[in-house]
Amino acid sequence: MDDVSDGEMDGLCVTECTRCPDLVEGRTQIVNGAGPDDADLVFLGEAPGANEDEQGEPFVGRSGSVLDDALRDVGLARPDVRITNCVRCHPPENRDPKVKELENCAAWLERELELVDPELLVTLGKVPSEHVLDRSVAVTKEAGDVVDARIGDRPQRVLVCVHPAATLYDRSQEDTFTSTIAKAAELADLTDGEGGQANLGDF
Ligand code: URA
Repeated sequence: MDDVSDGEMDGLCVTECTRCPDLVEGRTQIVNGAGPDDADLVFLGEAPGANEDEQGEPFVGRSGSVLDDALRDVGLARPDVRITNCVRCHPPENRDPKVKELENCAAWLERELELVDPELLVTLGKVPSEHVLDRSVAVTKEAGDVVDARIGDRPQRVLVCVHPAATLYDRSQEDTFTSTIAKAAELADLTDGEGGQANLGDF
């Protein structure tokens, strides 16, 4: 078990953490990443919402349905990919995670990515993109861009993407979102080159 002060990780799962008082106070549970422990493609969201807090799994609400639909369109399904968040506890009133909370949770994310060692990390929205790239990111403009980043001690290829929820508020984001997901599947080599059929999971 890894021990980062005030918390513990067992494999890919944080089993205990008390680093962020506001989050500890309001959370139902810690929401760890889900999906294969050797996934080539990892999606990174911001923080669990209320549904995720209740069910203990990332992206199970409306944003999750948008992501599922886009994955299905390129012949992929949840078991083909891993999904995780920058922060593992639901922030009260759905507010953005604070910088300190992102920092507190960074060691867990670094450890998860070190163990999974994905080909590609897709950052879903502004918070994860800026957290991982350590600069301000105009997500709508940069969506689809591939960036060679460093996360902890490792090099990591990152694909910037709009958050799935953005497509619910602004229909013009749908094409950007779906084309970035298609690019992600290609870059992670999860298509068979024949119109987006998956070579994993579905069969
Ligand atoms: N939005 C996120 O960023 N993460 C989730 O897990 C759910 C919604």
